[in-house]
Amino acid sequence: MKVTVVGAGNVGATCADVLAQREIANEIVLLDIKEGFAEGKALDIWQTAPINLYDSRTTGSTNDYSKTADSDVVVITSGLPRKPGMSRDDLIATNAGIVKTVTENIAKYSPNAIIIIVSNPLDVMTYCAYLSAKFDSKKVFGMAGVLDTARYRAFLATELNVSPKDIQAILMGGHGDTMVPLPRYTTVSGIPVTELISAEKLDEIIERTKFGGGEIVKLLGTSAWYAPGAAAAQMVEAIVRDQKRIFPVCAWLQGEYGFNDIYLGVPVVLGKNGIEKIIELDLNTAEKELLKESAVAVKGVMDVLDNMNVTNA
Ligand code: NAI
Ligand code: 2OP
Repeated sequence: MKVTVVGAGNVGATCADVLAQREIANEIVLLDIKEGFAEGKALDIWQTAPINLYDSRTTGSTNDYSKTADSDVVVITSGLPRKPGMSRDDLIATNAGIVKTVTENIAKYSPNAIIIIVSNPLDVMTYCAYLSAKFDSKKVFGMAGVLDTARYRAFLATELNVSPKDIQAILMGGHGDTMVPLPRYTTVSGIPVTELISAEKLDEIIERTKFGGGEIVKLLGTSAWYAPGAAAAQMVEAIVRDQKRIFPVCAWLQGEYGFNDIYLGVPVVLGKNGIEKIIELDLNTAEKELLKESAVAVKGVMDVLDNMNVTNA
């Protein structure tokens, strides 16, 4: 299996490292636009192989997409973080330009690849990649829910003082403060979480989860990378090993949950064909309302992209 990771920055390099350490793919290509950067990161990762005793080979490339040819899965992490003086719309335009160019190159050299987007703003960058790749929507989707759910599960594990392995949860909606963690679908080894924690504490954890990305930005001055890189690698693993894992994924909806033509986080089955099924939960009225609010927020940003005509240029 060959996996390409575009963007050898914090998230991309971490993702490549996890893919290599866990031998999720035997060939991993890191690509970046910055001269020598991907080569350097790839060499460093490869030099851990004799220490950590694995075979997966990581190589780097400065913007040469022929090196990525015939990848089975591609993870796109390229993009800029928001800089002082830059509006949200400026960021959308800049990152959409990057994601569009990258995706077109990927589609040219790896026409059968499954593409996972990580670049922010996540939901709209996934939409941008979908428009640019012109692939089936089941093969173009975004990583956010695996990360956001991991944050929610980690906070719960700390609060309950139990293993994070035993916490199962699902979370829906956009990657932002309108995301919708679902306590009704959260269990600790099968025990409904509501039996183990007060409503107030659970609400606090849900709020913390919604702003989990911002919490790390405040501490580090830049966004997270260990958990995002591992989350993207876990999605790659589900695909290359055809695991049929159920994850919250930013997926193109065509009628599911009553939404059309929108990329939104929903539970899906991930396997060798990409999104093999979108699972429709029987949400209650309050949950549906929260999901709708999130969809309105995401659609607003998708409209900004549509009005910029970046993907038609
Ligand atoms: P970073 O700045 O460390 O890395 C980004 C890399 O992209 C840089 O090395 C840069 O040279 C490269 N790049 C820029 N334009 C390129 C192009 N045209 N072709 C190839 N490479 C190009 O940033 P970091 O921390 O790795 O974050 C990457 C993206 O992921 C950001 O947009 C960030 O907001 C997003 N992110 C998304 C998460 C999610 O849950 N979806 C979580 C964490 C980060
Ligand atoms: C995160 O959630 C900023 O999207 C990034 O960490």
